[in-house]
Parts: sequence; C-alpha cells; structure tokens
Amino acid sequence: VTAQSARSSAAEIERLAAVRLPPAVRDFVAGGSGAEVTLAANRAAFDRIAIVPRVLSGEAGVRMETQLVRTKASMPVAVAPVAYQRLMHPDGEVAAARAAKTSGIPYVISMLSSYPMEEIVGTGASCWFQLYWLRDRGQNRDLVLRAGRAGCEALVVTVDLPIMGRRMRDVRNEFALPTDVRAVHLEGDQTTSAHVAWRGNSAVAVHTSELLEPALSWCDLEWLRERTDLPIVIKGILDPRDAVRAAEIGADAVVVSNHGGRQLDSAVPSIMALSPIVDAVGDRCEVLLDSGVRTGTDVVKALASGASGVLIGRPVQWGLAVGAEEGVASVLELLRSELEECLRLAGCIDLVAARELRVTTV
Ligand SMILES: Cc1cc2nc3c(=O)[nH]c(=O)nc-3n(C[C@H](O)[C@H](O)[C@H](O)COP(=O)(O)O)c2cc1C
Repeated sequence: VTAQSARSSAAEIERLAAVRLPPAVRDFVAGGSGAEVTLAANRAAFDRIAIVPRVLSGEAGVRMETQLVRTKASMPVAVAPVAYQRLMHPDGEVAAARAAKTSGIPYVISMLSSYPMEEIVGTGASCWFQLYWLRDRGQNRDLVLRAGRAGCEALVVTVDLPIMGRRMRDVRNEFALPTDVRAVHLEGDQTTSAHVAWRGNSAVAVHTSELLEPALSWCDLEWLRERTDLPIVIKGILDPRDAVRAAEIGADAVVVSNHGGRQLDSAVPSIMALSPIVDAVGDRCEVLLDSGVRTGTDVVKALASGASGVLIGRPVQWGLAVGAEEGVASVLELLRSELEECLRLAGCIDLVAARELRVTTV
C-alpha cells in the first residue's frame, strides 16, 4: 500500500498505519487516558458543530497564508509535538520535519524527540521547541538556550502533565521503548527506565514521572519569561482564567488542548473550551487549538470559534508510519485541499472571513 492511495482521508491513513505498526506502538499513539472518554468526546464535539456558510464572495480563490506566533505558515496548521517519532519510522522527526518544510508549516519538536533538535532544524523547517519542565531547573535552562542557538523560533511549554494520565492500553501492553528509540535530549542515565518492561505498568509513564517536575507553577513560567526572548507558547490550557494568567505573564500564545485525550479523562473537549478562552484573552495573546482535528472542516470550525490556527498530532504520525516523509506530506496536503475546499464552500476568501463565520451546535 502506498502513501498515495491513502489520500482519501485521515481515517483511511489511520487504518493503513494500524496494520504497519507493532500493536503496542499503534496503541501508544492511538490511546487516551482512563476510559478514553475525552478521546472520543474530542471527535464528537467537532461533529456536533455546524458551520453557517456565506455566499457570493465574488472571488474564485482563497488565501490561506498566515503567521502563527511569529512564524510564517502557508496554512493555519502546525505539526504538534509528539515524542519518540522513530517508533513510527526510522527517519522519525527528520522525515516529518522535511514534510512540514515542504508544506510550509511550523514543526514543533518534542523535548522527548528521538533525533536531536539541531538535526531536525537542519531540514530547513521552521521549528518550535516543546519543553516538559524537568525537575532539574538548570537542565531546563540549558535546553532553552540550546533551542535558541539551534534556531528554534518559539518555545512551547506543556503544562497539562503534572503527572501522566493513566493510559490503560500502555499499562496493559506493559509498553516500553525499544533500545533504538531514545529521548536524545536527556542524559543517558535519565532514559533507562523508559526501556525497562515494568510488570503491570507503562515504562513511558514510569520514566515521565521520574523526570518531570510535578509542582510546576506560574512562578516557573515567569522565571522562563525573564530568561528568553523567544516567543513562549503555553500548551494545555482549558480554562479562560488560566489563559488570562498566561497572557498576563507575557505568553505570546496558548494552545487550548487536552493533550489529545491523554491527560485528564473527562476533561472538556478543547473545541468546546475555545470560544470562552478567545473571549477572555481578546488580543492579549494568540490562541491555538489541538486535540481531535482530523479534517480541513475541523480547522474551519476552530477558526470560526476564534482560533488563529491548529496543531495536528496523530494524523502526522500515521502518515509517518505509512510512508515516512512522503506519507506525512500526503497527510498535510490532504488537509490543505480539504481546508481550501471547505473555505470555498463556506464562501470565505481568506482566514479573516473564516474567523467571521458563524457556527452552531446540532
Ligand atoms: C504519541 C503521542 C505523543 C505525544 N507526545 C507529546 C509530547 O512529547 N509533548 C507534548 O507537548 N505533547 C505530546 N502529545 C500531545 C500532542 O502534542 C497533541 O496535543 C495531541 O496529539 C493533539 O491531539 P490529536 O492527536 O487528536 O491531534 C503527544 C501525543 C501523542 C498521540
């Protein structure tokens, strides 16, 4: 099966990826936390939103270029940070970033990436670096400096992981990383526990809890703000009060996200949390969204609800599994053509018009 034949939909490429990946890896990517209530609710919430189309725009084309945070983007989409992409394909993050470059959209490097950031930035993609707050503050500082030196254009701090959500599929599979897939930004002895098969537990969960700061606070983010000129994006916001606080401490953007249903199970679907956040922050900071975006129509729904763009998580990984760089490129180009088609059918000539569309729940 080629990546080409997967052009039909993200659902189709998910099926193709599912047969290629080892079952435990497929589950690691697909899974959510708890009973996967939020995982399902993310999709259900998108499906309940209806777009009220406009007509007679008087133009045949649609302009989709934009700027996300301070990075130019050919469409209002970025690749979400996803750990350990060598699980999907030996070329991992490098292949995915190449496809993002070809598509002209930002690529967010996970702190837990399996290729070093310099190599990923070396693809020429516009990269942002995602930070999980490590217990060792000096190590956070070093990574932030390194990201700036490497040419990353923004920092994304993920704040919805005080502890890791209980991912039942990984627990059941006693999931552990193979030896050839490692979090290369960490010291060797900091990654050991991720590779050990734990009885009745996920090695990734054990590893994460050892590594990450469980008592992160706004003071830490203020500390970071004072130490970098890079734009700061705070990822994992669902309450307007937290979004306002993020803007107050000088964050340039927030990502309204429930981590793709992988953290608090029964957390609100991010598309439902979006409008109140946009209303609360106004133009004090940019608002992005992820969790459950699968089609161009979903992107339009997010724009119409006030987002300036979206991040795409799992579909990019399915593309990587099916066809490395080409597979990711086909996922991104499918999304672009769906987005363009949806905007034209909704009578929008550009993203400003998309943000003025009305939506209603059915
Ligand atoms: C396999 C996997 C690994 C992830 N790793 C990270 C990570 O390292 N850092 C992070 O901030 N978010 C991580 N996320 C969350 C994504 O950035 C994003 O919020 C989520 O996947 C969006 O939902 P979607 O997959 O429905 O598009 C991960 C998600 C998945 C599925």
